[in-house]
Amino acid sequence: MKETEADATVAGEQLRAGDRIALNFAAASRDPEVCSDPGRFDPTRKEIVHTAFGVGPHRCLGEHLARLELRVAIREMLRQVPDFTLAPGSAPTYESGQLRTMTKLELVW
Ligand code: HEM
Repeated sequence: MKETEADATVAGEQLRAGDRIALNFAAASRDPEVCSDPGRFDPTRKEIVHTAFGVGPHRCLGEHLARLELRVAIREMLRQVPDFTLAPGSAPTYESGQLRTMTKLELVW
């Protein structure tokens, strides 16, 4: 949470100096004007600038290790469970606050 230093207009919203603002990471890449159909899982997206590992000088120091671990984990899962789908009638659930977390994902194979 920070206070604005000067009057400004951001995305059509009028801010006055001293207004309190917060950066909501949960909203990152959720704007359909920037990222088409943001709710659809598409690992080949080109337009996305994701913030999973943060941005700026404090960007995650372990990003490359984390990416490698995720590659290995996903490759092993796909090797053992190559064909799966969402459980009929189910939908992923999310918890949203400062971050956005998937709390439930029912799969069948
Ligand atoms: C999927 C796994 C991971 C995710 C999603 C993740 C995410 C993040 C994010 C968002 C930040 C930035 C926090 C901020 O802006 O204040 C961060 C920072 C950091 N991460 Fe990760 N991280 C992951 C794995 C790791 C691993 C495996 C390591 C170390 C082996 C690591 C070490 C760090 C460190 C040291 C920082 C602080 C960098 C700094 O403040 O300059 N992370 N991480």
